Amino acid sequence: MPARKPGDRSGVIPSPNIWHWPHLYEAENRAQDVDGALFEAIRSAADWASKTVVDVGCGSGFHLPIFAADAERVVGVEPHEPLVELARARVADLSNVAVETGRADALPVVDGSVDLVHARTAYFFGPGCGPGIVDAMRVLAPGGTLVVVDLDATASPYGDWMRSDLPHYDPAAVEAFFAAQGFDLTRVDTRWSFPNRRVLSDVLGIEFGPRVARRAMTAVDGTAFDVRYRLHVRHKPSGIELRRAGG
Ligand SMILES: C[S@@+](CC[C@H](N)C(=O)[O-])C[C@H]1O[C@@H](n2cnc3c(N)ncnc32)[C@H](O)[C@@H]1O
Repeated sequence: MPARKPGDRSGVIPSPNIWHWPHLYEAENRAQDVDGALFEAIRSAADWASKTVVDVGCGSGFHLPIFAADAERVVGVEPHEPLVELARARVADLSNVAVETGRADALPVVDGSVDLVHARTAYFFGPGCGPGIVDAMRVLAPGGTLVVVDLDATASPYGDWMRSDLPHYDPAAVEAFFAAQGFDLTRVDTRWSFPNRRVLSDVLGIEFGPRVARRAMTAVDGTAFDVRYRLHVRHKPSGIELRRAGG
């Protein structure tokens, strides 16, 4: 394998939350975006009905059945083998879904065969993820779309907790990176809602260190709070653009 350049994030990035506590991450996924604002925003960027979708870094496959409900074909790609197994078990009864072991910079998918590449809370898509973007563009058909969904650390309250927990994380640098790569940015406001404060506390405990998790728990009155996301969208050109002189 060729040596990677400094800052190259194309390798597998450890995800302690879902790697170590997949059952709590499942509870977190169930609590996230309970009003469906993210899927609505993704659908207006690139409707996947009757199309082919690749979910990169699909984890235990939580979003695969949602895409599969009206996509023609869905492929989940995940490097962490225990999660590949969980995702395969989840979609065992869905004939239009496959789960492959793989990673963002070497997708196990043929060129030009995909309409939507989706990557959600995928730490491997951030500054330095050029090889992953190049590979997404390779697998997309002309006119296809890459959508990177991530948490917006600039919005309260969740973003405040993120920045306290990750003082070196620079939201402006992340946004500048995507803008320079030709992505459009949409901010999407969502609500996370938990069945009770015990589950809320457990989930905050896998996302943040103990001090920030305690502070967040105190700040939440009840079992729900707002979380803003960033949606970075890049379309693959659909063909040669003909421009008329003076047009
Ligand atoms: C925070 S989890 C999100 C999982 C899933 N997208 C979800 O929302 O439920 C991030 C996932 O990215 C995977 N991952 C890490 N590095 C990767 C890479 N280079 N290519 C593809 N996936 C990667 C991790 O194994 C983990 O499953």
